Amino acid sequence: MNFETVLAGLPDAVVAVDDALRVVFWNGAAESLTGRSARRAANRALKELLPPGSSLIRHLAETIRTGESRSEAETTLEAPDGRLLPVSIVTAPLFDRRGTVEAAVAVLRDVSRIRELEAEVRRGETLAAAGRMAVGLAHEIRNPLGAIRGAVQLLARELGGEARFREYTDVLIKEVDRVNRIIQMLLDLARPVQLRIAPLNLHQLLERVALLSVEGAEAQGVTIVRRYDPSLPPILGDEDRLVQVFYNLVRNALESMKSGGRLTLTTRISLNPLFAKMDLGVGQRSMVEMQVTDEGTGIPAGVREKVFDPFFTTKERGLGLGLALCHRILEEHKGAIKIDSVEGRGTTVTCFLPIAK
Ligand SMILES: Nc1ncnc2c1ncn2[C@@H]1O[C@H](COP(=O)(O)OP(=O)(O)OP(=O)(O)O)[C@@H](O)[C@H]1O
Ligand SMILES: [Mg+2]
Repeated sequence: MNFETVLAGLPDAVVAVDDALRVVFWNGAAESLTGRSARRAANRALKELLPPGSSLIRHLAETIRTGESRSEAETTLEAPDGRLLPVSIVTAPLFDRRGTVEAAVAVLRDVSRIRELEAEVRRGETLAAAGRMAVGLAHEIRNPLGAIRGAVQLLARELGGEARFREYTDVLIKEVDRVNRIIQMLLDLARPVQLRIAPLNLHQLLERVALLSVEGAEAQGVTIVRRYDPSLPPILGDEDRLVQVFYNLVRNALESMKSGGRLTLTTRISLNPLFAKMDLGVGQRSMVEMQVTDEGTGIPAGVREKVFDPFFTTKERGLGLGLALCHRILEEHKGAIKIDSVEGRGTTVTCFLPIAK
């Protein structure tokens, strides 16, 4: 086995240049990272292949000039589809027999998956902290609310049928009930509820949610499209909790499409490299993907990191608890949730759930 075969098989991109910054080596991972084939890259100047000012060019140029290594833990590289990928870079000089620098080599690693996983962990931690606070608060609020509700009911009875006062007592009871519901949602978010896990037909659950939403959808000119994989195996989950998740996602999708569009429900076996298999504590399980795609407003880049935070909302009447709850429930299922969104185009939320096998 020669060294080129070894380098070709590395998951990290390896790029070598001569002292005029012309490419002399470009492995397979470099091809997929940059979208340029080794054949096209060979003997070309690096600055013809990458955008000017690219940190890879800068680091290699400095290594050639100084004969020293350079490294950067996180910088960005433009991917073939125009996205900016987070990558780490390390460069090293290659010397000729007389000790002058004749070439330099760079190793680039795509760290986007690591960043995604880190974000996932951080999100879980914030939710747990918010949850603990909520439980304390909720208990303090629930008891006085119970007392208020009881007193208002007594008051309503004392006042008899007098319509003038009835209106006030009705408002009081309705609002107390609303606060109670909010507290219940908070508690749901915080408590590690006991899941009743069973094998489930995902499509049946989705149809229940579709049925609940179809009227609202039609009223605002939204068509519900189904893209179900008919060979999908049963999943493992808690029926009521998952319906809660899907209902929240569909509601968000509808709320983002005030002037109509398509709401697509997709199911498939997951091939996502990050989430296709998960360890459920009893060994690795394959996962299923359930996607809710809308053609709504999309989520602006600055907002995207916050959507899972409890109480983060951009809606006038939103609580900002929907996605926090979804995240929580999927975490309990040892699944995952992921959002892809393009502002002005729409949003796809993907849930990953374990297969019952
Ligand atoms: N499909 C979507 N399209 C556009 N923005 C979305 C979508 N889903 C979520 N968001 C954004 O994320 C925010 C948080 O969503 P989340 O469901 O947690 O709370 P909410 O919908 O505002 O309130 P609620 O507690 O009633 O669900 C929303 O306010 C909205 O800005
Ligand atoms: Mg919501």
